[in-house]
Amino acid sequence: MRRLLVTGGAGFIGSNFVHFVLENTDDTITVLDKMTYAGNRASLAGLPADRFRFIEGDICNAELVGQLFSEHDAVVHYAAESHNDNSLTGPAPFVETNIIGTFTLLEAARKSGIRYHHVSTDEVYGDLELDDPARFTENTPYNPSSPYSSTKAGSDLLVRAWVRSFGVQATISNCSNNYGPRQHVEKFIPRQITNLIDGIHPRLYGDGLNVRDWIHADDHSSAVLRILDGGRIGETYLIGADGEKTNREVIELILEAMGESPDAYDLVNDRPGHDRRYAIDWSKLRDELGWSPRYSDFSSGIADTVRWYKENEEWWRPQKAATERKYAETGQ
Ligand code: NAD
Ligand code: TYD
Repeated sequence: MRRLLVTGGAGFIGSNFVHFVLENTDDTITVLDKMTYAGNRASLAGLPADRFRFIEGDICNAELVGQLFSEHDAVVHYAAESHNDNSLTGPAPFVETNIIGTFTLLEAARKSGIRYHHVSTDEVYGDLELDDPARFTENTPYNPSSPYSSTKAGSDLLVRAWVRSFGVQATISNCSNNYGPRQHVEKFIPRQITNLIDGIHPRLYGDGLNVRDWIHADDHSSAVLRILDGGRIGETYLIGADGEKTNREVIELILEAMGESPDAYDLVNDRPGHDRRYAIDWSKLRDELGWSPRYSDFSSGIADTVRWYKENEEWWRPQKAATERKYAETGQ
């Protein structure tokens, strides 16, 4: 039994990890979350009070972070500004949370000596051409495109340096695009599902042919737990599930799951600097730690996700109008 500190645990993937760990281990969890627009306490409702505690606070607060590190055995760091589109209209909080926040946690890890797992994204590697047979590996050079991916890349490099220079007991994972329940309606899949519920056409950026490599959030959580349990200190592990799809293919699956015609979508302004394709080679995680994903059928994963948004309107409705107002300003 471990005492885990999970930063950003009120967000999409962090809350998934909290549920996953409480269901599959004897560990206890403290969530540290600032409750930005992306945090949602409803995502942590009903958890056992003897094994779960919530603290509202900022990962940039060194005093609070230092105190919490002294009370825990390991930390899993999810907290971030996570949305590319927001990083293009307002990059400042990305630099603050993703870089200064990670620095603050690393300094606390250095002082306390506890194990630290750093959750990151495949977007640090930049993008691939559509016809390139390559996929990202742990050895792909960093080449981020956006304020989001560059601040995540900066945070990963801080971790590597703190391991090498100060002996911090850290591991890093870089995962592909996640989908599943409790994802904020600003992100691609929930935005389109909730637009359709509201009778609005899905909105595809550019030509809609950009490729993302999709993984269910439950599989991301099982991989992170596996790395926390058995990953080698100082190592990076890529997490993926062979889920490459064009955005058009994803939209068609959503339209089908919602009983709409397959061409009922609109093409809108492209995202500046829009990465063309991401693809993950996760063989190191398989070969070294024996991990594999459980969700192999993307279309049934999408159908389950559609059902969740239909059944949990009270979870997402409060954010919907403000999110769409922001998109309207950029014609998206
Ligand atoms: P999210 O935006 O849903 O959640 C982020 C959480 O962090 C929110 O609860 C927010 O309140 C909290 N937070 C933000 N700033 C904070 C601060 N300064 N102090 C404390 N808490 C703060 O994000 P997500 O999609 O769940 O992503 C979680 C992590 O996983 C991020 O590090 C992201 O880079 C990484 N990741 C995401 C994806 C994806 O597809 N969404 C893929 C790979 C990696
Ligand atoms: P997103 O969920 O923002 O994730 P990321 O930028 O981290 O990949 O977007 C996924 C893909 O969907 C990306 O190619 C941008 C595209 N997209 C749309 O076409 N329409 C939308 O309304 C949104 C939000 C994204």
